[in-house]
Amino acid sequence: MICEYLNNELHIENVSLASIAREYGTPVYVYSKGKITDNFSSYQRAFGDRDHAICYAVKANSNIAILKLLHDLGAGFDVVSIGELERVHAAGAASSETVFAGVGKMAREIERALALNIGCFNVESVDELSLIDQIAGKLGSRARIAVRVNPDVDPKTHPYISTGLNENKFGIPMPNALEVYLKAQKMAHIEIAGVACHIGSQLTEIAPFVAAAERVQGLINQLDEREIKINQVDIGGGLGISYGQENPPAIEEYVTALCKTIDPSLRIAIEPGRSIVGDAGLLLTQVLYMKQTPAKHFAIVDASMSELIRPALYQAHHPVMPVSLYPSRETQLVDIVGPVCETADFLAKGRELALGADDFIAIMDAGAYSAVMASSYNTRPKPAELIVSADQSYLIRERDSIESLIANERIVDF
Ligand code: LLP
Repeated sequence: MICEYLNNELHIENVSLASIAREYGTPVYVYSKGKITDNFSSYQRAFGDRDHAICYAVKANSNIAILKLLHDLGAGFDVVSIGELERVHAAGAASSETVFAGVGKMAREIERALALNIGCFNVESVDELSLIDQIAGKLGSRARIAVRVNPDVDPKTHPYISTGLNENKFGIPMPNALEVYLKAQKMAHIEIAGVACHIGSQLTEIAPFVAAAERVQGLINQLDEREIKINQVDIGGGLGISYGQENPPAIEEYVTALCKTIDPSLRIAIEPGRSIVGDAGLLLTQVLYMKQTPAKHFAIVDASMSELIRPALYQAHHPVMPVSLYPSRETQLVDIVGPVCETADFLAKGRELALGADDFIAIMDAGAYSAVMASSYNTRPKPAELIVSADQSYLIRERDSIESLIANERIVDF
C-alpha cells in the first residue's frame, strides 16, 4: 500500500492527499516515486547475475517523468507506436534496450525507429518483416528483429487483455514460426536477434508464463538445429497485481520461474508495465453530491470513466479510500459514479463507506492503464499528474485546458 492514515488523514509517502487536492484541484493522478522504484528494484534483484533486460511497457504509463525515472534506474523500454518511441526519446532514454512491438507498425514508424537505432523490432507478420527489410535496405542499415510467436496458451485473464491464444490477432502462430525465421535469415537487411512472445496482461498465475516459455524454448532448440542462433528471449509482460481481490505471484517468484525455464545461455528480456506502476498510483477525486434513490446511494464524484475507464471496460475493481476519516459517521453501501452521461460511468460499486459531499477520495491502483487511457469524452480536460517523493510533490503534467481541447477544430463555411 502506498497510502497510510496519519491522524485520520490519508498520506501518500509523507504528503497529505487533502493538501494535494486543495493545491492542484481534482481529479488528479498521484504517483509514488518510492513505490515505482521498489517495484523496479524487485525485478532487478530477482534477476541477480542472470543476463537480462527489463523493458518497461510504456503503454502502462507513458508520462516522460516516469520514463526518465525508470531509465535512470536501468530500464529499457517496450513501445508500440512512434508516439511512445518519441516519448522515450524525449526522456533521453531511447537505446539498444528499446523494443518496438505491436501488430500494425507503419512505414514511417519503422523508418523513425531505425533512425533512432532501437534494439529490436518484435515482428508480428511476414508482410511486416518484408517491409522492415525493405526500409532498412533503403536507409542502408540492418534491422534487428525477433519474431513474436503466439504460443497458444490460455493466460486465464480477462478476454480483452488475453493475447496468446490462437484466436487472437497477435503474433505468428507457433507452427509457422520456423518458416518465418528461415525467410528472415535470407533477408539482406534483417538480423535475427531473438524470439518474443506476450500472452496477456493481469495474469495471476505462474503456470501460463512457464507454459509459454517452454514452447518458446522448444522453438529455439529447433532454430538451433537449423543454425539460426538466438541470443535473447523476450517473454513479454503480463504479471498481475492485486486490486484488493487477487493474489498474484510475487515478482521474485515470477522471475525465478522464467530463469529456470529458459536456457541459461540466453538473455531474458521482459516487458512489465502494470507490475511496475499499477500499485504506485491513484486517482484523487472529490465527491460533488450524495444522491439517494429508492434503489441505491450514489456518490457523484468529479472523476469519471473518461479518467479511469477500467471499471467500465473490464469490470475492474479498484479499492477506494476516503482521504479523511470521520469515525463518528455511519457507513452505507454506495456506488461511486462520475458526471459522464453513460450508465457505464462508474468507478466502484457497492462499497461500504462513510462519505459526504465535498469529501476527497482516492481510487487506488490507478498507476497503470489509467492516465494513458483517459479520453476527453464529454469535453473533459485530462487531469494533471503529480509524483510524490518523501515529503515533496512534483507536477509532471499540467491539466489540459478546454482551449487546448478545441484548439485543433475549425468552423468552416459550407
Ligand atoms: N508487452 C506487450 C506486447 C503488451 O501487449 C503488453 C500489454 C505488455 C507488454 C505489458 O503488459 P503488463 O505487464 O502491463 O500486463 N488496458 C488493459 C491492459 C492492456 C495490456 C495490453 N498489453 C488494462 O487496463 O487492464
